[in-house]
Amino acid sequence: MTENSDIDQLSRSGLFTPFTHGSLRLRNRFAMAPMTRVKSPGGTPTAEGAAYYRARAAAEVGLIITEGIYIDHPEVGRDTDQETSVPRLSGEARVAGWRTVVDAVHAEGSAILAQIWHTGAHGLTMEPTPDMTAVGPSTIAPGEGSWAMRGLTLDELGDITRAYADAARNAQLAGFDGVEIHGAHGYLLDQFLWHRVNRRTDGYGGSLGANARFPAEVVAAVRAATGPDFTIGFRFSQWKAEDYTATLARNPGELAELLTPLVDAGVDIMHASTRRFWTPAFPDQPGEDGGRGLAGWTKKLTGLPTVTVGSVGLATTMQGDPHPDSDDWADELRRRFDREEFDVVALGRTVLTDPAWLRTAGITTG
Ligand SMILES: Cc1cc2nc3c(=O)[nH]c(=O)nc-3n(C[C@H](O)[C@H](O)[C@H](O)COP(=O)(O)O)c2cc1C
Repeated sequence: MTENSDIDQLSRSGLFTPFTHGSLRLRNRFAMAPMTRVKSPGGTPTAEGAAYYRARAAAEVGLIITEGIYIDHPEVGRDTDQETSVPRLSGEARVAGWRTVVDAVHAEGSAILAQIWHTGAHGLTMEPTPDMTAVGPSTIAPGEGSWAMRGLTLDELGDITRAYADAARNAQLAGFDGVEIHGAHGYLLDQFLWHRVNRRTDGYGGSLGANARFPAEVVAAVRAATGPDFTIGFRFSQWKAEDYTATLARNPGELAELLTPLVDAGVDIMHASTRRFWTPAFPDQPGEDGGRGLAGWTKKLTGLPTVTVGSVGLATTMQGDPHPDSDDWADELRRRFDREEFDVVALGRTVLTDPAWLRTAGITTG
Protein backbone atom coordinates (compact mmCIF):
# COMPACT_ATOMS: atom_id res chain seq x y z
CA MET A 1 0.00 0.00 0.00
CA THR A 2 1.37 3.44 -0.87
CA GLU A 3 1.80 5.08 2.53
CA ASN A 4 2.54 8.69 3.36
CA SER A 5 6.07 7.58 4.25
CA ASP A 6 6.56 6.25 0.71
CA ILE A 7 5.44 9.60 -0.69
CA ASP A 8 7.81 11.37 1.71
CA GLN A 9 10.65 9.19 0.50
CA LEU A 10 9.74 10.00 -3.08
CA SER A 11 9.84 13.71 -2.24
CA ARG A 12 13.34 13.34 -0.82
CA SER A 13 14.54 11.00 -3.57
CA GLY A 14 16.82 11.69 -6.50
CA LEU A 15 13.73 12.44 -8.58
CA PHE A 16 14.14 16.03 -7.45
CA THR A 17 17.76 16.27 -8.61
CA PRO A 18 18.53 18.09 -11.86
CA PHE A 19 19.15 16.14 -15.05
CA THR A 20 21.56 17.17 -17.78
CA HIS A 21 22.23 15.36 -21.01
CA GLY A 22 23.77 17.17 -23.93
CA SER A 23 21.91 20.45 -24.29
CA LEU A 24 18.90 19.28 -22.25
CA ARG A 25 18.75 20.63 -18.70
CA LEU A 26 15.92 19.67 -16.38
CA ARG A 27 15.38 20.91 -12.85
CA ASN A 28 13.91 17.56 -11.79
CA ARG A 29 12.98 14.17 -13.21
CA PHE A 30 9.24 14.66 -13.76
CA ALA A 31 7.83 15.01 -17.27
CA MET A 32 4.37 15.53 -18.66
CA ALA A 33 3.61 12.65 -21.06
CA PRO A 34 2.49 13.61 -24.57
CA MET A 35 -1.30 13.76 -24.71
CA THR A 36 -3.37 14.62 -27.77
CA ARG A 37 -5.93 17.33 -27.15
CA VAL A 38 -7.24 18.19 -30.65
CA LYS A 39 -7.83 21.80 -29.70
CA SER A 40 -5.75 23.78 -32.17
CA PRO A 41 -7.88 25.70 -34.68
CA GLY A 42 -6.29 25.29 -38.11
CA GLY A 43 -3.42 23.45 -36.44
CA THR A 44 -2.27 26.55 -34.53
CA PRO A 45 -1.89 26.35 -30.76
CA THR A 46 -3.90 28.92 -28.84
CA ALA A 47 -3.32 31.10 -25.77
CA GLU A 48 -5.43 28.56 -23.89
CA GLY A 49 -2.96 25.87 -24.97
CA ALA A 50 -0.06 27.96 -23.69
CA ALA A 51 -1.82 28.38 -20.34
CA TYR A 52 -2.51 24.63 -20.21
CA TYR A 53 1.16 23.73 -20.58
CA ARG A 54 2.30 26.60 -18.38
CA ALA A 55 0.12 25.36 -15.50
CA ARG A 56 1.89 21.98 -15.49
CA ALA A 57 5.33 23.61 -15.69
CA ALA A 58 4.39 25.94 -12.84
CA ALA A 59 3.51 22.92 -10.71
CA GLU A 60 6.99 21.37 -10.77
CA VAL A 61 6.79 19.29 -13.94
CA GLY A 62 10.37 19.79 -15.15
CA LEU A 63 9.84 18.61 -18.72
CA ILE A 64 6.80 19.10 -20.93
CA ILE A 65 6.40 16.75 -23.87
CA THR A 66 3.68 18.21 -26.07
CA GLU A 67 0.71 16.45 -27.52
CA GLY A 68 1.44 14.74 -30.86
CA ILE A 69 1.99 17.38 -33.58
CA TYR A 70 1.37 16.39 -37.19
CA ILE A 71 4.21 16.71 -39.64
CA ASP A 72 3.23 18.08 -43.04
CA HIS A 73 2.28 15.19 -45.27
CA PRO A 74 -0.96 14.61 -47.18
CA GLU A 75 -1.67 11.28 -45.47
CA VAL A 76 -0.50 12.28 -42.02
CA GLY A 77 -3.82 11.61 -40.31
CA ARG A 78 -7.34 12.79 -40.20
CA ASP A 79 -7.59 16.53 -40.12
CA THR A 80 -10.79 17.44 -38.48
CA ASP A 81 -12.73 20.68 -38.49
CA GLN A 82 -11.30 24.03 -37.55
CA GLU A 83 -12.31 23.94 -33.89
CA THR A 84 -10.80 20.59 -33.18
CA SER A 85 -7.57 20.14 -35.09
CA VAL A 86 -4.41 18.36 -34.13
CA PRO A 87 -1.65 21.00 -34.07
CA ARG A 88 1.05 21.31 -36.71
CA LEU A 89 4.41 22.98 -36.92
CA SER A 90 4.45 24.50 -40.39
CA GLY A 91 3.96 28.10 -41.43
CA GLU A 92 4.66 31.32 -39.58
CA ALA A 93 1.42 31.49 -37.61
CA ARG A 94 1.79 28.01 -36.18
CA VAL A 95 5.46 28.51 -35.34
CA ALA A 96 4.52 31.79 -33.64
CA GLY A 97 1.74 30.00 -31.73
CA TRP A 98 4.19 27.40 -30.51
CA ARG A 99 6.69 30.11 -29.57
CA THR A 100 4.08 31.45 -27.13
CA VAL A 101 3.71 27.98 -25.61
CA VAL A 102 7.48 27.48 -25.38
CA ASP A 103 8.04 30.90 -23.79
CA ALA A 104 5.32 30.21 -21.20
CA VAL A 105 6.91 26.90 -20.22
CA HIS A 106 10.42 28.34 -20.14
CA ALA A 107 9.20 31.22 -17.97
CA GLU A 108 8.29 28.62 -15.33
CA GLY A 109 11.77 27.06 -15.49
CA SER A 110 10.83 23.89 -17.37
CA ALA A 111 12.02 22.46 -20.68
CA ILE A 112 9.76 21.45 -23.55
CA LEU A 113 9.98 18.92 -26.38
CA ALA A 114 7.63 18.87 -29.37
CA GLN A 115 6.29 15.42 -30.13
CA ILE A 116 6.23 15.00 -33.92
CA TRP A 117 3.82 12.50 -35.39
CA HIS A 118 2.58 10.72 -38.49
CA THR A 119 -0.25 8.30 -37.88
CA GLY A 120 0.35 6.10 -40.95
CA ALA A 121 -2.39 3.53 -41.34
CA HIS A 122 -3.40 3.91 -37.73
CA GLY A 123 -6.52 5.88 -37.00
CA LEU A 124 -7.62 5.84 -40.62
CA THR A 125 -8.53 2.21 -40.36
CA MET A 126 -10.49 2.93 -37.21
CA GLU A 127 -12.49 5.59 -39.01
CA PRO A 128 -11.76 5.48 -42.75
CA THR A 129 -12.63 8.55 -44.78
CA PRO A 130 -13.14 8.38 -48.54
CA ASP A 131 -10.57 11.08 -49.33
CA MET A 132 -7.73 9.62 -47.32
CA THR A 133 -5.56 6.63 -48.06
CA ALA A 134 -4.23 4.59 -45.20
CA VAL A 135 -0.50 4.38 -45.82
CA GLY A 136 2.08 2.29 -44.04
CA PRO A 137 5.08 0.11 -44.68
CA SER A 138 3.35 -2.56 -46.78
CA THR A 139 0.27 -3.07 -48.86
CA ILE A 140 -2.13 -5.14 -46.79
CA ALA A 141 -5.61 -5.82 -48.11
CA PRO A 142 -8.62 -5.56 -45.81
CA GLY A 143 -9.17 -8.85 -44.02
CA GLU A 144 -5.53 -9.90 -44.42
CA GLY A 145 -4.53 -8.74 -40.99
CA SER A 146 -5.77 -6.30 -38.45
CA TRP A 147 -4.94 -3.26 -40.59
CA ALA A 148 -5.43 -2.47 -44.25
CA MET A 149 -2.97 -0.10 -45.88
CA ARG A 150 -1.12 0.91 -49.00
CA GLY A 151 2.64 0.45 -48.84
CA LEU A 152 4.62 3.68 -49.17
CA THR A 153 6.93 4.11 -52.17
CA LEU A 154 10.58 5.04 -51.73
CA ASP A 155 9.79 8.55 -53.01
CA GLU A 156 7.11 8.89 -50.35
CA LEU A 157 9.53 7.74 -47.66
CA GLY A 158 11.83 10.54 -48.79
CA ASP A 159 8.97 13.07 -48.59
CA ILE A 160 8.04 11.93 -45.09
CA THR A 161 11.63 12.03 -43.89
CA ARG A 162 11.91 15.63 -45.14
CA ALA A 163 8.62 16.51 -43.45
CA TYR A 164 9.92 15.24 -40.10
CA ALA A 165 13.11 17.25 -40.59
CA ASP A 166 11.12 20.39 -41.49
CA ALA A 167 8.90 20.01 -38.43
CA ALA A 168 11.96 19.61 -36.20
CA ARG A 169 13.64 22.65 -37.74
CA ASN A 170 10.47 24.67 -37.13
CA ALA A 171 10.37 23.39 -33.56
CA GLN A 172 13.89 24.71 -33.17
CA LEU A 173 12.83 28.08 -34.62
CA ALA A 174 9.95 28.19 -32.13
CA GLY A 175 12.46 27.78 -29.30
CA PHE A 176 11.77 24.17 -28.29
CA ASP A 177 14.57 22.38 -26.43
CA GLY A 178 14.13 19.44 -28.76
CA VAL A 179 11.66 17.03 -30.31
CA GLU A 180 10.34 13.64 -29.39
CA ILE A 181 9.80 11.50 -32.48
CA HIS A 182 6.63 9.46 -31.98
CA GLY A 183 7.56 5.90 -32.86
CA ALA A 184 5.09 4.19 -30.51
CA HIS A 185 1.55 2.85 -30.12
CA GLY A 186 1.09 1.57 -33.68
CA TYR A 187 1.61 4.83 -35.60
CA LEU A 188 3.66 5.13 -38.78
CA LEU A 189 7.19 4.65 -37.45
CA ASP A 190 6.02 1.87 -35.13
CA GLN A 191 4.40 0.19 -38.14
CA PHE A 192 7.88 -0.01 -39.66
CA LEU A 193 9.33 -1.39 -36.42
CA TRP A 194 6.57 -4.01 -36.14
CA HIS A 195 7.17 -7.22 -38.12
CA ARG A 196 3.42 -7.91 -38.24
CA VAL A 197 2.68 -5.04 -40.63
CA ASN A 198 6.14 -4.39 -42.05
CA ARG A 199 6.42 -6.94 -44.85
CA ARG A 200 8.86 -4.98 -47.02
CA THR A 201 11.69 -6.73 -48.82
CA ASP A 202 13.56 -3.66 -50.09
CA GLY A 203 15.95 -3.10 -47.19
CA TYR A 204 13.26 -1.36 -45.07
CA GLY A 205 11.96 -4.63 -43.67
CA GLY A 206 12.76 -8.30 -43.35
CA SER A 207 14.91 -8.20 -40.21
CA LEU A 208 14.75 -6.22 -36.99
CA GLY A 209 17.63 -4.02 -38.11
CA ALA A 210 15.96 -3.39 -41.48
CA ASN A 211 12.64 -2.63 -39.76
CA ALA A 212 14.42 0.13 -37.86
CA ARG A 213 15.98 1.62 -41.00
CA PHE A 214 13.25 4.11 -41.89
CA PRO A 215 12.78 5.38 -38.31
CA ALA A 216 16.58 5.69 -38.09
CA GLU A 217 16.67 7.68 -41.34
CA VAL A 218 14.07 10.03 -39.84
CA VAL A 219 16.25 10.49 -36.75
CA ALA A 220 19.33 11.17 -38.89
CA ALA A 221 17.42 13.73 -41.01
CA VAL A 222 16.15 15.49 -37.88
CA ARG A 223 19.70 15.60 -36.53
CA ALA A 224 21.04 16.98 -39.82
CA ALA A 225 18.33 19.67 -39.86
CA THR A 226 18.79 20.79 -36.27
CA GLY A 227 22.50 20.34 -35.45
CA PRO A 228 24.18 18.81 -32.43
CA ASP A 229 22.64 20.97 -29.67
CA PHE A 230 19.00 20.04 -30.14
CA THR A 231 17.60 17.15 -28.13
CA ILE A 232 16.13 14.24 -30.06
CA GLY A 233 13.94 11.87 -28.09
CA PHE A 234 12.43 8.72 -29.54
CA ARG A 235 9.30 7.15 -28.10
CA PHE A 236 8.59 3.49 -28.78
CA SER A 237 6.37 0.81 -27.28
CA GLN A 238 5.70 -2.87 -27.46
CA TRP A 239 1.93 -2.30 -27.16
CA LYS A 240 -0.33 -0.90 -29.84
CA ALA A 241 -3.51 1.03 -29.26
CA GLU A 242 -5.54 -1.87 -30.72
CA ASP A 243 -3.42 -4.65 -29.31
CA TYR A 244 -2.01 -4.43 -25.82
CA THR A 245 -0.30 -7.82 -26.19
CA ALA A 246 1.72 -6.91 -29.30
CA THR A 247 5.49 -7.22 -29.09
CA LEU A 248 8.25 -5.72 -31.17
CA ALA A 249 10.98 -7.58 -29.31
CA ARG A 250 10.62 -10.92 -27.53
CA ASN A 251 13.91 -10.70 -25.66
CA PRO A 252 16.72 -8.24 -24.87
CA GLY A 253 18.71 -9.31 -27.94
CA GLU A 254 15.84 -8.41 -30.25
CA LEU A 255 15.32 -5.13 -28.44
CA ALA A 256 18.99 -4.26 -28.95
CA GLU A 257 18.71 -5.05 -32.68
CA LEU A 258 15.78 -2.67 -33.03
CA LEU A 259 17.16 0.17 -30.96
CA THR A 260 20.81 0.19 -32.04
CA PRO A 261 20.14 1.78 -35.46
CA LEU A 262 18.18 4.55 -33.71
CA VAL A 263 21.02 5.20 -31.29
CA ASP A 264 23.54 5.24 -34.12
CA ALA A 265 21.35 7.74 -36.00
CA GLY A 266 21.58 10.26 -33.16
CA VAL A 267 18.83 9.77 -30.56
CA ASP A 268 19.67 11.48 -27.24
CA ILE A 269 16.97 10.09 -24.98
CA MET A 270 14.67 7.07 -25.28
CA HIS A 271 11.09 7.07 -24.05
CA ALA A 272 9.93 3.50 -23.41
CA SER A 273 6.15 3.71 -23.38
CA THR A 274 4.53 1.13 -21.14
CA ARG A 275 1.04 1.02 -19.69
CA ARG A 276 2.43 0.23 -16.22
CA PHE A 277 5.96 1.29 -15.38
CA TRP A 278 6.46 -1.61 -12.99
CA THR A 279 5.73 -4.41 -15.49
CA PRO A 280 8.83 -6.55 -16.16
CA ALA A 281 9.73 -6.38 -19.86
CA PHE A 282 11.26 -9.85 -20.11
CA PRO A 283 10.22 -11.79 -17.00
CA ASP A 284 12.00 -14.95 -18.18
CA GLN A 285 15.41 -13.32 -17.73
CA PRO A 286 17.38 -14.67 -14.76
CA GLY A 287 17.84 -12.87 -11.45
CA GLU A 288 17.28 -9.14 -11.06
CA ASP A 289 17.02 -8.76 -14.85
CA GLY A 290 13.70 -10.62 -14.71
CA GLY A 291 12.13 -7.66 -12.93
CA ARG A 292 13.64 -4.94 -15.12
CA GLY A 293 11.12 -2.74 -16.91
CA LEU A 294 11.27 -1.68 -20.57
CA ALA A 295 12.94 1.63 -19.73
CA GLY A 296 15.50 -0.26 -17.64
CA TRP A 297 16.32 -2.62 -20.47
CA THR A 298 16.49 0.26 -22.93
CA LYS A 299 18.96 2.10 -20.70
CA LYS A 300 21.04 -1.02 -20.21
CA LEU A 301 21.13 -1.94 -23.91
CA THR A 302 21.57 1.52 -25.45
CA GLY A 303 23.52 3.35 -22.77
CA LEU A 304 21.17 6.31 -23.31
CA PRO A 305 19.08 8.03 -20.65
CA THR A 306 15.48 6.85 -20.60
CA VAL A 307 12.02 8.07 -19.72
CA THR A 308 9.66 5.66 -18.01
CA VAL A 309 5.87 6.02 -17.95
CA GLY A 310 2.66 4.22 -17.18
CA SER A 311 0.09 4.48 -14.41
CA VAL A 312 2.25 6.48 -12.02
CA GLY A 313 -0.06 7.46 -9.17
CA LEU A 314 -3.07 5.79 -10.74
CA ALA A 315 -5.12 3.13 -9.11
CA THR A 316 -7.03 2.25 -12.26
CA THR A 317 -6.34 1.07 -15.79
CA MET A 318 -7.07 3.16 -18.91
CA GLN A 319 -10.48 1.47 -18.90
CA GLY A 320 -11.12 2.43 -15.28
CA ASP A 321 -10.67 -1.07 -13.88
CA PRO A 322 -8.68 -1.37 -10.65
CA HIS A 323 -5.04 -2.41 -11.01
CA PRO A 324 -4.41 -5.60 -9.09
CA ASP A 325 -0.85 -4.64 -8.27
CA SER A 326 -0.37 -0.87 -8.19
CA ASP A 327 -0.56 -0.50 -4.44
CA ASP A 328 3.05 0.31 -3.78
CA TRP A 329 3.76 2.41 -6.86
CA ALA A 330 5.60 5.17 -4.96
CA ASP A 331 8.03 2.75 -3.36
CA GLU A 332 8.39 0.87 -6.63
CA LEU A 333 9.13 4.08 -8.54
CA ARG A 334 11.82 5.16 -6.10
CA ARG A 335 13.42 1.72 -6.06
CA ARG A 336 13.56 1.54 -9.85
CA PHE A 337 15.05 5.04 -10.01
CA ASP A 338 17.66 4.09 -7.41
CA ARG A 339 18.50 0.99 -9.48
CA GLU A 340 19.09 3.38 -12.41
CA GLU A 341 16.37 1.90 -14.60
CA PHE A 342 15.32 5.35 -15.81
CA ASP A 343 16.28 9.03 -15.63
CA VAL A 344 12.93 10.77 -16.07
CA VAL A 345 9.38 9.68 -15.25
CA ALA A 346 6.46 10.86 -17.37
CA LEU A 347 3.04 11.55 -15.91
CA GLY A 348 -0.02 11.26 -18.12
CA ARG A 349 -3.57 11.16 -16.87
CA THR A 350 -2.67 12.42 -13.39
CA VAL A 351 -1.41 15.78 -14.66
CA LEU A 352 -4.03 15.90 -17.39
CA THR A 353 -6.81 16.00 -14.80
CA ASP A 354 -4.86 17.91 -12.15
CA PRO A 355 -2.05 20.21 -13.33
CA ALA A 356 -0.71 20.38 -9.76
CA TRP A 357 -0.98 16.62 -9.21
CA LEU A 358 2.57 16.34 -7.82
CA ARG A 359 1.64 18.77 -5.05
CA THR A 360 -1.82 17.29 -4.58
CA ALA A 361 -0.25 13.87 -4.09
CA GLY A 362 2.23 15.37 -1.62
CA ILE A 363 5.24 14.79 -3.91
CA THR A 364 7.15 18.02 -3.60
CA THR A 365 10.46 19.45 -2.59
CA GLY A 366 8.46 21.56 -0.20
C1 LIG B 1 -5.92 11.66 -23.60
C2 LIG B 1 -4.62 10.98 -23.96
C3 LIG B 1 -3.96 11.36 -25.12
C4 LIG B 1 -2.73 10.76 -25.45
N1 LIG B 1 -2.05 11.19 -26.57
C5 LIG B 1 -0.81 10.74 -26.81
C6 LIG B 1 0.00 11.32 -27.84
O1 LIG B 1 -0.37 12.27 -28.53
N2 LIG B 1 1.23 10.79 -28.03
C7 LIG B 1 1.71 9.75 -27.29
O2 LIG B 1 2.84 9.30 -27.51
N3 LIG B 1 0.96 9.20 -26.29
C8 LIG B 1 -0.25 9.69 -26.02
N4 LIG B 1 -0.96 9.19 -24.94
C9 LIG B 1 -0.34 8.20 -24.04
C10 LIG B 1 0.33 8.94 -22.85
O3 LIG B 1 1.46 9.69 -23.28
C11 LIG B 1 0.80 7.96 -21.75
O4 LIG B 1 1.77 7.10 -22.29
C12 LIG B 1 -0.34 7.14 -21.17
O5 LIG B 1 -1.43 7.96 -20.81
C13 LIG B 1 0.12 6.35 -19.94
O6 LIG B 1 0.53 7.23 -18.92
P1 LIG B 1 -0.44 7.44 -17.61
O7 LIG B 1 -0.74 6.06 -17.13
O8 LIG B 1 0.42 8.23 -16.66
O9 LIG B 1 -1.65 8.16 -18.09
C14 LIG B 1 -2.19 9.75 -24.62
C15 LIG B 1 -2.90 9.37 -23.45
C16 LIG B 1 -4.07 9.98 -23.11
C17 LIG B 1 -4.76 9.58 -21.84
